[in-house]
Amino acid sequence: MAPLLITGGAGFIGSHTVLVLLEAGHELVVLDNFANSSPLALDRVLELAPAGADQRLHVIDGDVRCAEDLDRAFAAAAAPITGVVHFAGRKAVRESVEQPLLYWDVNLGGTRSLADAMARHGCELVVFSSTATVYGEPEVFPLVETMPTPPVHPYAQTKLAAEQLLAAMVRSRGWRVAALRYFNPVGAHPSGRIGEDPDGIPNNLFPYITQVAAGRLERLRVFGDDYPTADGTGERDYLHVMDLAEAHAVALDYLLQRAEATQITLNLGTGRARSVLEVVQAFERATGIPIPYDVLPRRAGDVPKLEASVQAAAQLLGWQASRSLEQMCSDGWAWQRANPNGYR
Ligand SMILES: NC(=O)c1ccc[n+]([C@@H]2O[C@H](COP(=O)([O-])OP(=O)(O)OC[C@H]3O[C@@H](n4cnc5c(N)ncnc54)[C@H](O)[C@@H]3O)[C@@H](O)[C@H]2O)c1
Repeated sequence: MAPLLITGGAGFIGSHTVLVLLEAGHELVVLDNFANSSPLALDRVLELAPAGADQRLHVIDGDVRCAEDLDRAFAAAAAPITGVVHFAGRKAVRESVEQPLLYWDVNLGGTRSLADAMARHGCELVVFSSTATVYGEPEVFPLVETMPTPPVHPYAQTKLAAEQLLAAMVRSRGWRVAALRYFNPVGAHPSGRIGEDPDGIPNNLFPYITQVAAGRLERLRVFGDDYPTADGTGERDYLHVMDLAEAHAVALDYLLQRAEATQITLNLGTGRARSVLEVVQAFERATGIPIPYDVLPRRAGDVPKLEASVQAAAQLLGWQASRSLEQMCSDGWAWQRANPNGYR
């Protein structure tokens, strides 16, 4: 199989996807500057991967904005790289409001440099990590890919701009591009060996819950119980990171099988939004550990609800999420319990 480049392959979603792609027999080059990850994640991936997979994994410590680092990555495998999965980027909404230049630089500038390197190296196929936040503050659900995308913060704006840059390469150069709009990936590989490793106090519900369960944080903070949702708490479409990783393998196969210019934009979620309190209860059921919580006022910038229409991914790729909310909880907990300090 022809080699693939995985930018940001040491990160949360990247490491799980690297494992799935090694299991599928691919040769991979990972380009990561470890700005938000540890090289240990890739050592753990190799422990889980089939024997001999280390021969098919090349790791380049480098920046996706840097042409020389990209050239090193494109030259790292014996054969030319035929496709890219582009995970590298910054992903914190609040940080993007405080540091917009960083987000435009890494998320859009990084995609631009990558596209430039792809053109230099004759590679015309890319699967891109986009986000459900491109839908802004929607009020109609489920969210369909053709709905308006008025992003409201720099993180979502830079992701939408990167989608548009890649769409322009489809039109002008006949590239094959999949923009995957992830909803809320959570959980971990069931082995508990790889998982999400946030720095400091987590912004997101799942790592927060697992840290309360582990006793690292005392009580969960629930931001708002007066949203126009079933129980008043915010609702999100959580999906298991292994389902998400598998979707990348399927999207790559779809693009690799096509000869003509192709542009697909797909939501990846389960199609079912769950409230904060539903997640707390599912976690308690799955692990037997009580999660005490306090309700605080709404947090600025949070939308009441996100829920994907998952029909397009099912129709085009034949992919749908299969793992339950309880599995997301028990696998996320297995990771946190075995690695209380992440990879540190
Ligand atoms: N986790 C989510 O909830 C979520 C939701 C929607 C979209 N996404 C997108 O999916 C992608 C992966 O997310 P994740 O959760 O795995 O995040 P992550 O931070 O764990 O992974 C991103 C990886 O990219 C690397 N990286 C950052 N800047 C880089 C640079 N300049 N050059 C090279 N590598 C760089 C980081 O070190 C990290 O390994 C991101 O683009 C993110 O925006 C994530």
